[in-house]
Amino acid sequence: MVTKIPLLLVALALLLAPPYLSIAGATDALESVPDLQSAMYRNIKSYPCVRLLNLSGEIGCSNPGQEKVIAPIVRFKHSSDELTRLSAVLLPLEELEGLFLRISKDMDFAQKVAGVLVESDGYPSKSLGFSPAEKFPQAAFAPYKNINYEWNLAGSGIMSNQYNFPVFLLSPETKSFVQELVGKNAGGTDLYQVIVAEFDLVMQTTKSHTHDSGSCLKEQTCLPLGGFSKYLAFVRYLEHHIESPAVLEIGSVGKGLDQATRATTFYAHARGDSSVTKDMLTALQSASDSLGSDNVKIKAADVSNPGIPPSSLMTFLRKNSSAAGIVLEDFDSSFTNKFYHSHLDSPSNINSSSIAAAAALVARTLYILASGDLRVNLMTLNSIKVNVSLVEELVGCLLSCEPGFSCSIVRNFISPSNTCPSHYVGVFLDSPDTRYPEYADDTSRFVWNFLADKTSALKGSTSSCTGKCNSIDQVCIGAEIEGKGRCVISTTRYVPAYSTRLKIEDNLWHVIPASTLDPMGSVDPVWTESFWNTIGLRVYMVQSGTYDRLILVGGVGVTVASYIVTIVTKSFLAKAVKND
Ligand SMILES: *[C@@H]1O[C@H](CO)[C@@H](O)[C@H](O)[C@H]1NC(C)=O
Ligand SMILES: *[C@@H]1O[C@H](CO)[C@@H](O)[C@H](O)[C@H]1NC(C)=O
Ligand SMILES: *[C@@H]1O[C@H](CO)[C@@H](O)[C@H](O)[C@H]1NC(C)=O
Ligand SMILES: *[C@@H]1O[C@H](CO)[C@@H](O)[C@H](O)[C@H]1NC(C)=O
Repeated sequence: MVTKIPLLLVALALLLAPPYLSIAGATDALESVPDLQSAMYRNIKSYPCVRLLNLSGEIGCSNPGQEKVIAPIVRFKHSSDELTRLSAVLLPLEELEGLFLRISKDMDFAQKVAGVLVESDGYPSKSLGFSPAEKFPQAAFAPYKNINYEWNLAGSGIMSNQYNFPVFLLSPETKSFVQELVGKNAGGTDLYQVIVAEFDLVMQTTKSHTHDSGSCLKEQTCLPLGGFSKYLAFVRYLEHHIESPAVLEIGSVGKGLDQATRATTFYAHARGDSSVTKDMLTALQSASDSLGSDNVKIKAADVSNPGIPPSSLMTFLRKNSSAAGIVLEDFDSSFTNKFYHSHLDSPSNINSSSIAAAAALVARTLYILASGDLRVNLMTLNSIKVNVSLVEELVGCLLSCEPGFSCSIVRNFISPSNTCPSHYVGVFLDSPDTRYPEYADDTSRFVWNFLADKTSALKGSTSSCTGKCNSIDQVCIGAEIEGKGRCVISTTRYVPAYSTRLKIEDNLWHVIPASTLDPMGSVDPVWTESFWNTIGLRVYMVQSGTYDRLILVGGVGVTVASYIVTIVTKSFLAKAVKND
């Protein structure tokens, strides 16, 4: 009888044990609820795919309902691997396109996919590339008919699809941890424990059934996408010397360097008035010649191209078909960049010397164009040089996490909120003040300060400031750094960049109808981003269903046993009392 009590206690303890077991191995010092949580759950550093909306529908990812999604993780080697039950699929990046394709075709399989975890590092298919964008990005804006042309050969277009399940890209440092953990699931030897992923990617637009920009703005479940461009009018001088307005756009110039020949080649994609673009081409050629041993070549793009590549010039042309311009690119007929619009389009994918070469070429070209019919001063022309180490430093600050925004040029001007520069566009809360916007992101604020500093007149004779300057033609730079704020004369301004079909009224964003006067309005998708409460991904171990059933059986056994024990004890006690 006495020996039964501990057994009973053990059985009860089993019933009461939390279903989540430790996976972090930090069980020895549990002193609070957060301690317990961090021992049981592991938050995974990762990058979520979120829900974006336009006037006609949605793209991106969201949990299907209003709840977190929890499912056991299954590691796929190939997108064709099989699932036996609802699971979170963990797979290498190069299999992602195949998986999405399969999900869109095979409904049976699609129903078993609860979520997707993508491993980001060690991408072996470098030569194939990886680009989630379309083969012809921004085709809707093309000023020509051939919109099936493939500028982006590596483009899969997976970015513009809609996924009603969560997708997270794992950060490189968490990949091996998750893989190791999931290896335990794969063995199938342990019936009691399963590693699950818990996705918190509940989107407000899904919750409130607002499935396009018009309805979500009305119901306030989303905000317009947008950011700040920087404008500066240092082209004033140019304007006096060039009769017809023309655009010189700098496109992708990071991959113009040919390692073998040590030459950097750029392609001029021209469009519009031939006399204007011809002048620009001649100037580019003279600039290239003047760079001599730096070996920067300029070529006219192939005449067999359907027109200019995806660029801002396309929108200028839609607005005014007689506009003229040149887009300078490091490619001729299709992108040399195989990682367009992907996280792998990092500093290791570009060459800062190629960017420096483009900067020198453009600076000298502008000088030649500005000289107009006057003779170009060769001494001045040859003195126009690019500080290559500054370009390298800027690449490190703006494109990498190390040093990222902790680099000294950035720290001279702003106190950034993150070290890793974000390249996500962001959302607009309200109509921003263009002189001193309240919520410009780190990158915008740094570029604004940097440009204002570089282009400021009257260096030296500046007064200190903490926010605004008294004179209208001055701006206060470095204001975020204690004691570093100073007023400089500059025309640098923030230009809020968001859909022209949006206006704010009574603190609410409204979509305004497309005007027949504005050909751009009708193709403007009006992108918005859904609200969310929290976004999170964590993994933990749970007891599997088999184990739960074992416990149930055990529980029933314990109940029956206690009943018997009670009866026996009762009759024993009754006997003992009687005997007394
Ligand atoms: C708007 O979203 C839908 C997906 O719902 C997509 O098919 C369409 O191409 C998008 N429009 C633009 C201009 O990207
Ligand atoms: C369109 O561009 C041409 C040539 O650059 C210019 O002369 C004309 O004024 C522009 N039209 C409009 C409506 O801006
Ligand atoms: C950039 O150029 C340097 C030499 O100038 C070379 O070592 C490096 O591999 C190049 N990087 C890329 C991504 O082409
Ligand atoms: C080039 O840039 C570096 C880094 O910002 C700077 O230290 C250096 O003084 C610059 N050189 C010249 C000649 O301006």
